[in-house]
Order: sequence, then C-alpha cells, then structure tokens
Amino acid sequence: MRIFLDTANVEQIRHGVRMGVVSGVTTNPTINAKEGNADYEALSKEICSSVSGPVSVEVLVEGVESMLRQARQIHSWAKNVVVKIPATAEGLEVTSLLSKEGIKVNMTLCFSLNQAILGALAGAAYVSPFVGRLDDIGTDGIQRLKEIVEVLKCYQLRTEVIAASIRHPMHCVAAAMAGAHIATVPYNVLLQMIQHPMTTAGISRFLADWQKVTKK
Ligand code: G3P
Repeated sequence: MRIFLDTANVEQIRHGVRMGVVSGVTTNPTINAKEGNADYEALSKEICSSVSGPVSVEVLVEGVESMLRQARQIHSWAKNVVVKIPATAEGLEVTSLLSKEGIKVNMTLCFSLNQAILGALAGAAYVSPFVGRLDDIGTDGIQRLKEIVEVLKCYQLRTEVIAASIRHPMHCVAAAMAGAHIATVPYNVLLQMIQHPMTTAGISRFLADWQKVTKK
C-alpha cells in the first residue's frame, strides 16, 4: 500500500517526502482553505513541486461544462496533477471526457460500491471511498472499502482505490489489510503510524545502559 498525505501544508508534505514514505498528496477545498491561501493555483503548483507523485486537486465548480473547463485548467498547472471530480452523474460525464483526453481523475466523495464501479467504468484513474465519513453516519467504512477493492479487482478494472477520510492509525492498518492501493492520511496520523511506546522505551533503555558503561 502506498501512502499519500491528505494535506495542503507544504512543510508537512516536505517532511513526509524526506522520510521516504509519502508518494503523493490529496487536497480538497476544505484542506486548502485551512492554509489561508486563497490563490488556489499558486498553492496547488507549490504542492505539485514538493512531491514527485500524483497530487489531487479538486474542481471548485458544478455543472459539466464548468467542471470540464476548470479541470483542463487544473491539469495544465503541473505534470503530476490529478483532477478530483465528485461522484455524481455530471461527474461521470466529466470523468469520461477527461479520461479520453488523457487527464487523470480521482473520483472523490465516493460512499458506495455502485459509485466506485461507475467511476471505474467512466475511466477514473482513482476512486476515493471516504472511510471516516461512512463511520460517522454509523456504517462500516472499512467494510465498504473492502467491497470496493474486491469488486474492482474481480473485474480487472485498473482504477486504483484510495482509502480517504482516514482518521486514525487503525484505519491505516485496516486499509492495508483490505488491499487498498493507497491510503491518504492526515499528517498527524502519519506521525502516529510510526509511534510505538515499546520503541520509545527501548531507545531510552539502550541509551541508559550504554551510558552506565561509558560513565564507569
Ligand atoms: O481526502 C478526503 C478527506 O480529506 C476527507 O477527510 O476527515 O474531512 O472526512 P475528512
């Protein structure tokens, strides 16, 4: 499973890349707004230059013609940009046209197996089931993720599944066990993934034991 960072914070992205574990980024209008930078193009371009892998940037408009126009603009911003299009009937139409033009689409706000199948059939390069938001409404987000991974694999659909709306490290474990191609994680979750109290305690003990010898 690959790890993307779900953030528009460039420092966080650079840290993830330095650790050698982050191979892409996903953003959305909420995430971008958190950075307080209203220049969508400038911020998106900076993010795209901070990581070599795919960077998902979402359209900010509705309607087939408007989404198409904006998606083509976003696509022109960087070689590694992927356009995020919502899982709606209009979104499918846009995805179908963009994929024929060679523009990669991440079908976002995906909550059902049907949405994922349709996104894949329309040519989306990625579909993003929102695991945490499914949990929020009392459904099992990981179970839905599993269904999507299994069914796309069963029909040899090449669309990759991005486990999105990840809230905690156990979501990452479950996404890996479910066979998700990618988990896109907030920065705090990435840091939690590497933490283990036994590692912290082990480091302290090793250093303390060594100091006992050197102080003799
Ligand atoms: O990638 C989509 C994701 O960022 C949504 O996460 O926590 O707002 O549901 P959340």
